[in-house]
Amino acid sequence: MALTSDLKKQSQLKEVAGIPLQTATVDNWSQIQNFEAKPDDLLICTYPKAGTTWIQEIVDMIEQDADVEKCQRAVIQHRHPFIEWARPPQPSVLTPYRCILLNYFKGVDKANEMPAPRILRTHLPTQLLPPSFWENNCKFLYVARNAKDCMVSYYYFQRMNQVLPDPGTWEEYFEAFIDGKVGWGSWFDHVKGWWEKKDRYQVLFLFYEDIKKDPKHEIQKVAQFMGKNLDETVLDKIVQETSFEKMKENPMTNRSTVPKSILDQSISPFMRKGTVGDWKNHFTVAQNEKFDEIYRKKMEGITINFCLEL
Ligand code: A3P
Repeated sequence: MALTSDLKKQSQLKEVAGIPLQTATVDNWSQIQNFEAKPDDLLICTYPKAGTTWIQEIVDMIEQDADVEKCQRAVIQHRHPFIEWARPPQPSVLTPYRCILLNYFKGVDKANEMPAPRILRTHLPTQLLPPSFWENNCKFLYVARNAKDCMVSYYYFQRMNQVLPDPGTWEEYFEAFIDGKVGWGSWFDHVKGWWEKKDRYQVLFLFYEDIKKDPKHEIQKVAQFMGKNLDETVLDKIVQETSFEKMKENPMTNRSTVPKSILDQSISPFMRKGTVGDWKNHFTVAQNEKFDEIYRKKMEGITINFCLEL
């Protein structure tokens, strides 16, 4: 218990170009910016809590032709290295917090060791992405989720995740999220940034809500983007194996193997609800009105209509 609270106390965010990020990222920023992407890399990109784990499992199932055993080869967070976690320059000065983070993840090292073609993952906004991804014209798979549901999911995640700062009360968190004072910055800027890249680069832009509504159709789109032709049986199996219920029970996707000192699932499960519209159970009428007003201003000129009418 002492470790848990100590960890959480140490887990402050630091800014890079105005975007709050974890210290494991900021302290090793040059390694991350100099990351060498390869032309056949596929980068899974999301704002936190937009369904990263879900799309990762879908991508892996497609890659492995729905071979469930092959997808059990490692926990999901190790199958697709997280490119914003790098090795510390001076290991001797590590705090316990950074030791746990870096020993556990080592995303950059893992990506460097991986044979091509690689599938990698990031939460970075476009302006902070290592430039080599743009230079190599890599493929990007972006999943966006309704901002209000992202906020609710992030709030619970930040409570249970001992390497993220305490989110405070729901009211405090609501304001912090709107102001972009949370890890990886503003939801609005993140989604807008990736949306604007989609016509100039190879970006497949998906919505969590669409995958929920018609998983087979969306999985088919992902497969096509990955250059895979899947028959109906394989597609059906992927739909089945990547359902919320299946992934909640699957130790390779539900984070049950992560020590409680890092993810305390007694506070909130990682696979929490997996639904659309849970924000209605959390937002007050006043918060909802305020949010809609801010959404309209921040997203002006961008035709993404998935947020407000939910
Ligand atoms: P909730 O907290 O709303 O339940 P990420 O992987 O980016 O951290 O996102 C986690 C969110 O995606 C959680 O949302 C989680 O329950 C949801 N999720 C994970 N797998 C899912 C699935 N197969 N179907 C629907 N939602 C899923």
